[in-house]
Amino acid sequence: MKVADLDFEPLINAEAIEKRVKAIGAQLNEDYKDTKPLFVGVLNGSFLFIADLIKQIEIPCEITFTKLASYYGGTKSTLKIRDDIDLSVDIKGRDILIIEDIVDTGNTAHYLIEKLKLKEPKSIKLCSLLLKPASLKIKIEELKYVGFEIANDFVVGYGLDYQEMGRHLKDIYKKV
Ligand code: IMP
Ligand code: MG
Repeated sequence: MKVADLDFEPLINAEAIEKRVKAIGAQLNEDYKDTKPLFVGVLNGSFLFIADLIKQIEIPCEITFTKLASYYGGTKSTLKIRDDIDLSVDIKGRDILIIEDIVDTGNTAHYLIEKLKLKEPKSIKLCSLLLKPASLKIKIEELKYVGFEIANDFVVGYGLDYQEMGRHLKDIYKKV
């Protein structure tokens, strides 16, 4: 399968994603049952994951979004992080769960967590659909929920893009 100029092959299918999302949702319902968590979705890559995960939530919760960009269209993570849309709600004293598509080097997650900590939330945790353990450069203590651990492959689909293409795909594919 081609996305822009690169070839991709299947890695995780839609059924496996659905199963994992349901399991994480059940865990969140349990872990946050006595709080009113504020979910912070990180756009663009996590938009499908956020939508599917939030439908599994059965406890009172709120959802808001922020937009960060770090890849600039290539297949390698860069150290530059651009704040595109800032949080519009006050998070002081709130239980925050950040929802990300993927933690690669960890730079983006670290940047966002440190930024949100300054606003004095009660707690802050991170839920990421994908994690590339071998690529991680910073230990992220807040990373409590991971959908799938994957190898250091570049992936697209289910929200993730290559040069803004491939986000609509139901399955996740890796670069050949
Ligand atoms: P990090 O800052 O290196 O952890 O990278 C995090 C961001 O880079 C993610 O939120 C994604 O937007 C992007 N990213 C990392 N790996 C991939 C990939 O394999 N495919 C598509 N985007 C990726
Ligand atoms: Mg992202």
